[in-house]
Amino acid sequence: MQEKPVTILGVETSCDETAAAVVRNGRQILSSVVASQTKLHERFGGVVPEIASRAHLEKILPVIKEAIEQAGVKPADIDAVAVAHQPGLAIALMVGVTAAKTLAFAWQKPLIGINHLHAHLQSAILASETMELPAVALIVSGGHTSLYEAESALELKRLGSTIDDAAGEGFDKVATILGLPYPGGPSIEKTAKGGNPKAVAFPRSLLDKESLDFSFSGLKTAVLYHCQGQDMKGNNRVASMSPQEISDIAASFQQAAVDTLIIKTLRAVRKVGARTVLVGGGVAANTALREGMQDMCDKNKLSLLIAPKSLCTDNAAMVASLAYYYYKEGRFSGLDLEPTATT
Ligand code: KG4
Ligand code: ZN
Repeated sequence: MQEKPVTILGVETSCDETAAAVVRNGRQILSSVVASQTKLHERFGGVVPEIASRAHLEKILPVIKEAIEQAGVKPADIDAVAVAHQPGLAIALMVGVTAAKTLAFAWQKPLIGINHLHAHLQSAILASETMELPAVALIVSGGHTSLYEAESALELKRLGSTIDDAAGEGFDKVATILGLPYPGGPSIEKTAKGGNPKAVAFPRSLLDKESLDFSFSGLKTAVLYHCQGQDMKGNNRVASMSPQEISDIAASFQQAAVDTLIIKTLRAVRKVGARTVLVGGGVAANTALREGMQDMCDKNKLSLLIAPKSLCTDNAAMVASLAYYYYKEGRFSGLDLEPTATT
């Protein structure tokens, strides 16, 4: 007899996207709705938690309703409600967690709390049938940059993480320095297209020889000094730069960030004897990183599982997909589930 399919509603509100999705058996995405708040935060050059939380409140119910409608299911068809409850902005997470708890209670379905970072890796695993272990996983997002040893989608051991800025934060801040629009990652990528990645020798901060931690604040400061002078008196230099000079700086910064991520990932691979590399998170959408990682993996005979571009930035399909494996193991959360800002 065929096993009954498992249909899970996922909810995601950890930062500035209000998202809901319905996923069947961990792989079949029946719907994935994302309401982005980019326009609201644009003029501040970053996410303002209070604005994010209020926007989540306005959007959460319509977004969930749309996800259920698009999936063509009824609440009775949903087997569990999953929600990203950590890490993230506490007052943003609160909205998704409260909505998910309410629905789980009202529908009398199990609730599954999901770690947002683990869910990012699920986006990388989702499309592949098998994964050769051991694997090294790199999460590169706006809030986090970490390397893990992955024994499965559920079991991750942290090997290293950023000691200051996250990679995505670096892209966002450098975009601000260069006067490019928010969010910085896609703007830098676009501007870097016509630029020379060797034009400016920005530093690759590798820390100690063995270190698997990251540091991106030195790179950001190097871009700042390059644009405004060591004494920070050349405030208007960016305004007088040619588009080509700006493209060259964007390309050189992007290359330095990508090189650092690849070098550290290879270090981790060698340390754990990995056969597979997983990459997920918003910065994984970056073409230079995708191509560089593919090249490194080809040269070292590693298989690369990288999230499809459509699932790199925050979404709820990754949450509902990972929750399927929790469901299978009966790893449910109580209705006392709390949002937690840290990992
Ligand atoms: O995973 P995500 O959506 O949110 C967090 O969990 O933080 O990642 C957002 C980050 C932002 O910093 C954004 O600038 C960056 O991902 N990002 C990119 C690209 N697309 C998004 N960075 C570099 N290149 C991109 N194409
Ligand atoms: Zn994220």
